[in-house]
Amino acid sequence: MLGRQRRPLHALGVVVSGSKVVVSAIVSETPSIRLLRLAREDGAPLGPYRAGAHIDVTGPTGILRQYSLCGPPAETATLAIAVKLEPESRGGSAALHRLCEGDIIEIGEPRNILGIVSGADRHALIAAGIGITPLLSMAYELYSSGADFTLDYICRDRVETAFADLLENRAEFRDRVRLHTGLSRDEQREVLESVAATLTRDSVVYTCGPTGFMGTVAEIVTPVVGETNLHTEYFEAAEIDISGDTAFTVELDTGESFEIPADRSILSVLEDNGVDVFKSCEEGICGSCVSNVLEGEPEHRDNCLSVADKAAGNQMALCVSRSKSPKLVIELI
Ligand code: FES
Repeated sequence: MLGRQRRPLHALGVVVSGSKVVVSAIVSETPSIRLLRLAREDGAPLGPYRAGAHIDVTGPTGILRQYSLCGPPAETATLAIAVKLEPESRGGSAALHRLCEGDIIEIGEPRNILGIVSGADRHALIAAGIGITPLLSMAYELYSSGADFTLDYICRDRVETAFADLLENRAEFRDRVRLHTGLSRDEQREVLESVAATLTRDSVVYTCGPTGFMGTVAEIVTPVVGETNLHTEYFEAAEIDISGDTAFTVELDTGESFEIPADRSILSVLEDNGVDVFKSCEEGICGSCVSNVLEGEPEHRDNCLSVADKAAGNQMALCVSRSKSPKLVIELI
């Protein structure tokens, strides 16, 4: 065991990895979405965190999942997550839906893939379904900072629209938020085109929702704001064709070298050789395992790095991404 210590990616606040917290309140936002408020048993503060952050949550069945923090980032007494009951879940969301107030669960440090960009002339938040959660914390922060922002929130129907009352009635949101329910695909495109019409090259778009939806958002807003001003957060792993995968070499900045077979990930090979790599989802979503690339050309297969980060080629997710060059030199961060 090399016992290499890593610092958490973008960690902020006073939660430490593996903290026990108590479920202090539960609210049924919709028939399938529960809001859980989490607090420290000793009443000590948990925040603040950066808007758009997510945390690892380990429920009573031991299944670890990532959930976006959806409360005001400056609020320090509790952290809020919204859990959608997934019919095809492997038990993670179902277990969290069985929790009662007073139960104890384990959480990790807040980490950011999404974060508010400074200097934009307008911030456009575009959510679909449970994708509202990271964008809600960003809306709180944008309001606090006095930034110009809008939030367009698309849902299948009103009954399944989480936070509808809050968004429609709170003074900080009601003039900036548009709820869209029951739209056809064509009508969704019209909404997105109307948002794009209000933006400039200096505007920034943040979107979260199903992969297909975010693809439509990208298609419509990228010609206006450019690739680097579109920021996405995925809940799903990218679909990957592994049929042409080949072996390559990974060298760490320490000089240690490892052969990565065609059917193994960099992460799994490093772990088998006793290298301590920070990880969570192992699906290329959470950003925990992202490390620096010092030499070589990564083949990105994650859904956590931005288009700009991938184009720069100096970071990669070790759990899913591979190499276009025979060798990569990596610095674990
Ligand atoms: S462990 Fe989550 S992106 Fe690699």
